[in-house]
Amino acid sequence: MQGMALVGCGSAVPAASVTNQQLSARVDTNDDWIRSRTGIGARRIAGPLESLTTLATRAAQAALDHAGWRAEDLDLILLATSSPDDLFGTAPRVQGALGASRAVAFDLTAACSGFLFSLITAAQYLGSGSMRRALVIGADQLSRWVDWDDRRTCVLFGDGAAAVAVEACPAAETGLLGFRMRSDGSRNACLTLAQTDGHELLLDGITAQCGGFAPIQMNGQEVYKFAVREVPAILADLLEGTGTAAAELDWLLLHQANQRILDAVADRFAVPHSRVLSNLAHYGNTSAATIPLMLDEAVRDGRVRPGHLLASSGFGAGLSWGAALLRWGGPEP
Ligand code: ACO
Repeated sequence: MQGMALVGCGSAVPAASVTNQQLSARVDTNDDWIRSRTGIGARRIAGPLESLTTLATRAAQAALDHAGWRAEDLDLILLATSSPDDLFGTAPRVQGALGASRAVAFDLTAACSGFLFSLITAAQYLGSGSMRRALVIGADQLSRWVDWDDRRTCVLFGDGAAAVAVEACPAAETGLLGFRMRSDGSRNACLTLAQTDGHELLLDGITAQCGGFAPIQMNGQEVYKFAVREVPAILADLLEGTGTAAAELDWLLLHQANQRILDAVADRFAVPHSRVLSNLAHYGNTSAATIPLMLDEAVRDGRVRPGHLLASSGFGAGLSWGAALLRWGGPEP
């Protein structure tokens, strides 16, 4: 079994930023409530000339450039998203836009766990020796699926895309030192973006369902309790299984949903808050994009350096959650 090196990253966000203050003109909320409960100060919202495809393609091209690769070098493009431009798959649009003619491209849906699940999936193809170079993209445009009159959810989410370039390498040099993945569909109702119930009488005695999705529904308190219980548990299991002490970690790279969740996880492992990466204040929860978006920012500003050890965890709808122990192997910024 080969290893997988993380050798480049890139990101793209919509041009428009909406502050909490601005949002309070649309829905009954305020900056103080949102900041104190979540740490979120603003979020990016995709406009009419932007799309999941354009954001994901820009992020993917930036990751290719960072790794020093050509699009034709790619064997695989995995796009983690819950908000595709096309339910048949958006990854092939990205593949076409990049000109990655040799790459197979497909979507993977696991909400906010989608990027980590995709990274782990890519590792299986690279590890088996069947593929050599892959791009793993996390991208979401949940602004088109929130109810902008529901203050309990609309303040939380934003749009964005980010990508990581990964390459097969000798097992001893792997950047994926261990992982865990979990699902619990019995708690699915806590957080959904579900098919609506519409139907039409097609023929006498034959009724067909109509396509369409209802806006995001969330039981915030249940999701919060789930996160602060399961994320420390899965990280503890991962660290124990890989023989890693929390003190060895350079960074905690967690799904960016709520600053209080980040702080609770850090406290559980006695990791100083200064070693917990957070960009919630600028982007809110960009779902599958949060982890690579945060990674790209920290690589580009020099916080995450080659050889650094990161414990990462994604969690969200499904319910789904996962964790990975990563060593960054990209070039200097
Ligand atoms: N502005 C002002 N007041 C608000 C707002 C708002 N935006 N939203 C809710 N409130 C009010 C409520 O109406 C309620 O008022 P009431 O007491 O008069 O009824 C009060 O604030 C408290 O509401 P709660 O829902 O109990 O607030 P809570 O402290 O639980 O915080 C929050 C809500 C921030 C959503 C929190 O529960 C949370 O972060 N949960 C986790 C959510 C999460 O991580 N989701 C993403 C998962 S990732 C994925 O897969 C997409």
